[in-house]
Amino acid sequence: MNHTTGAGILCVVGARPNFMKIAPLMAAFRKGPNAIPARLLHTGQHYDAAMKESFFHQLGIPEPDIDLGVGSGSHALQTAEIMKRFEPVLDAECPAAILVVGDVNSTIACALVASKKGIPVIHVEAGLRSYDRGMPEEINRVLTDQISDLLFTTERDALGNLEREGVDGTRVIFTGNVMIDTLRQHLERAVPGADTLRASGIDPVLLDDSSGYALLTLHRPSNVDDPRVLRRLLETLRTISEQMPLLFPVHPRTRARIREAGFSDLLTSPRIVQLEPLGYLEMLGLMRHARLVLTDSGGLQEETTALGVPCITLRENTERPITVEQGTNTVVGTDAEKILAAVADVLETGGKRGRVPEYWDGQAAQRIKAFLVEWLAGRDSPVAVAN
Ligand code: UD1
Repeated sequence: MNHTTGAGILCVVGARPNFMKIAPLMAAFRKGPNAIPARLLHTGQHYDAAMKESFFHQLGIPEPDIDLGVGSGSHALQTAEIMKRFEPVLDAECPAAILVVGDVNSTIACALVASKKGIPVIHVEAGLRSYDRGMPEEINRVLTDQISDLLFTTERDALGNLEREGVDGTRVIFTGNVMIDTLRQHLERAVPGADTLRASGIDPVLLDDSSGYALLTLHRPSNVDDPRVLRRLLETLRTISEQMPLLFPVHPRTRARIREAGFSDLLTSPRIVQLEPLGYLEMLGLMRHARLVLTDSGGLQEETTALGVPCITLRENTERPITVEQGTNTVVGTDAEKILAAVADVLETGGKRGRVPEYWDGQAAQRIKAFLVEWLAGRDSPVAVAN
């Protein structure tokens, strides 16, 4: 398709898990003699100070050049609103390509608009699959990958996932995990857990419990939107808190669901600490010294593997199997007995040791940049990629 484009890349972010992925890319693109002209667009999917501002500030992400300010809504409304607001911006910007990260609604919405205008789409963190279409992110992953021109992957198995869906393997480049670039860069600056608790008015003595402490996050619709599942999980977590204190930064969706279902009492215990959503450096500080992490997040499965902290994933599947095969992750689902057995195993044996996967070495953004410098220079010739 003919299209007159500029020289630069328009990078898109929307929701919290995008921010730690875009940070090292923006820094790499804008640095050095072979800098790539890159502009940043925020869709506004996440807008709260706790869900957005603190991440930009702590990770040194430049202020977005463009903010679409879409806010919350149903998936259809949110996706449609992003598309509607993104189109005129894209017409005005005329970038050489857009770059999207991860699997949130902003990722697919912007990819779809650009691809229909013949503007190349670059997807960072391509090819991850849970094979669970009940998960909104899985739909976003599959569709985004289908319409992407360059697909940068975090693990080698992603290539097979993509080829099975008919994606041309020559467009797929294994460059590693940009989120781990961010983790390595910021680990030294992680905020000590005691400071984080004190800042919330909580006595940090809990962190010194002889069993250690568990860090918990929970926000997937499949876990929090169905009151039966939510109750089962909260009751199980309460049992765990009798063995070790539980620190729980509560996602806005989860807080709302707990309130609506009338479950607040299930969490009322001096050994369960509910916190507001934490900044990146506060979360890192609590995660690195946790005895274990209980989560339904994708990012935490990877970060715990990079840190060597045991992770118990409260989902039936994962799109990040490398964290199970090589890392510290155990996928247990939401069955109370299985969760308690996994916790008991960590307390008895210390949990899985694991190793850090290939190219989760802090250099992924540099590899992506090196590839894109060449690609932008030779965009008139066919893309040739070596794996
Ligand atoms: C989104 C992503 C999910 C990611 C998660 C991390 C999709 C499909 N899902 O889910 O992959 O793991 O972000 O947080 O894109 N809200 C606020 N303040 C905000 C943003 C949201 O209060 O700044 C509340 C709103 O009530 C909103 C709810 O949180 O309705 C859910 O936000 P939304 O962006 O729709 O999805 P997440 O569940 O956060």
